[in-house]
Amino acid sequence: MQTQNLVSHPVTKIQGELRVPGDKSISHRALILGAIAEGVTLIEHFLESDDCHATLHILRAMGVRIEQLSHGKIKIHGVGLHGLKKPEKMLDCGNSGTSMRLLAGLLVGQTFDSVLTGDTSLLKRPMARICTPLQQMGADIRVSQDECAPLMIYGGKKLQAIDYRMPVASAQVKSSILLAGLYAEGDTRVEEPQTTRDHTERMLRTFSSQDINNQNIRIPGDLSSAAFLMVAASLIPGSKIMLRGVGVNPTRTGVIQILQAMGADIMLENKRMYGAEPVVDIFVRHACLKGIDIPESMVSLSIDEFPILFIAAAMASGTTRVLGIEELRHKESDRISVMAEGLKQLGINILEKKDSMIIKGSKLKGGVVNSHGDHRVAMAFLVAGAVADRKIRVLNTEAISTSFPKFVDYFNQVGGHVAPCESRVKY
Ligand code: S3P
Repeated sequence: MQTQNLVSHPVTKIQGELRVPGDKSISHRALILGAIAEGVTLIEHFLESDDCHATLHILRAMGVRIEQLSHGKIKIHGVGLHGLKKPEKMLDCGNSGTSMRLLAGLLVGQTFDSVLTGDTSLLKRPMARICTPLQQMGADIRVSQDECAPLMIYGGKKLQAIDYRMPVASAQVKSSILLAGLYAEGDTRVEEPQTTRDHTERMLRTFSSQDINNQNIRIPGDLSSAAFLMVAASLIPGSKIMLRGVGVNPTRTGVIQILQAMGADIMLENKRMYGAEPVVDIFVRHACLKGIDIPESMVSLSIDEFPILFIAAAMASGTTRVLGIEELRHKESDRISVMAEGLKQLGINILEKKDSMIIKGSKLKGGVVNSHGDHRVAMAFLVAGAVADRKIRVLNTEAISTSFPKFVDYFNQVGGHVAPCESRVKY
C-alpha cells in the first residue's frame, strides 16, 4: 500500500444530508453467517471496505460463491454449516481484527487445517484472548511466541461447549466463541464483564441458530463512521447535518450519550428496524461542548469512538477525564499514545496514563500529526483540521479505506476541505 498524506483546512461550517456507509461489524457477520447458511443470502448496504473485503475473499477461498451484484449489494450462496472447503493458501485478514477473531472461531470447527495472517498492525494484536477459550473447547489453535498471529488452526477436532467468563470486554472474543459453539456439543455460554456489541447474537437469532436459513439483510449505516461527522457538526459554529439510516443498537450508542452529556445538540428521528437492528436519522447542530468525566460504564459502548471523542474533548470548555480505557492500546494502533502524541502536537494539554486520559480543552492549532496507519485516528485528525486555527497535515492516512473508503468525499461534500498533501513533511 502506498503511503498517503492528507491536509485538512479550517472551514466555516458543515451542512447537508448524508447516508453513511454500512456498518462494518454487521457487514462481517452477514458475510460469515450467510456463508454457512443453507441457501441464498442477499445483503444490501454492505460496507465495501478493505476490512470487509478481507472476510469476503477468505470465504471465497473456502469455496463460498459470493456475487457482487452492484456497489453494496451482495449475494451469498451459503454452503451450510459443514460445506466450507480447505483453502489452498494462508488466509489474509489484512488490517482486520474482526475478520481474524471471528473467522478463527469458525475455522476451529472445520475438518481441515488453516492459517490466518494479517498486516504488520494485526500481527501485533493480542490473540491469546481467543485462543484460550477456543482451546478450552478442544480446538487446536496455535499462536506465535508473542501470543500473536499468524494463527495455525488444525481442524478435525471434536469441540465441547463451554461456560466462559471473558476477562476482557470484547465482542470479537464473544463472537469467536459463539461461532465455534455452532460446531460444539452442548450449549455454549459467554459472560462479559461489560456489555459489548451484540450484533452476532441478533443475527444468529435472525438466521435462527438451529437451522441457519435464507435471509435478506439490510445493513444499517455505521454509527462509528457517522461519529466523525457528528463531532464536526457539533464543533463548527453554524453547522447542521442530517445523517440518514444510522444504526443505534444500544450496545453501540455510548458516543451519542457522551456527546449529549457534553452538551451536543443531537436529535434521533424516525426510529425503525432493519431486521433485528434499530436505525434512526440523526440530526446534529453546532453546540458549545463542555468537558465531562466519562463514566467507565460507557467505555465498551463507545470503544471505537474515542479518537474522535478526544478531538471533541480537546475543543470543549473545561476538562474531560476517562478511566478504564486500556483496551484502546490494543486497537489498530495504541490509540491512547497515538492520540495523545497528536493532540500534544496540536497544542493540547494531555495527561496520559496506562488506562486513562485527561484532556484540558482549549483551541487546536495547526500542524502535522501522524495517524500511524490507524483509520480512526486519521479521520479524527482530519476533523480536527476543520476546526483548528490553521490547517493540519495528517500522515499515513491510507488505512481510512479499511472502514470508510470515501470519507474524504463525504466530508468535503458537506463542507470539509481535505485534499491530498504532496509535501514531503518529515515527522
Ligand atoms: C468489533 C468489536 C470491537 C471493535 C471493533 C469491531 C466487532 O473490538 O473495536 O472495531 O465487530 O466485534 P473488541 O471486541 O475487541 O473490543
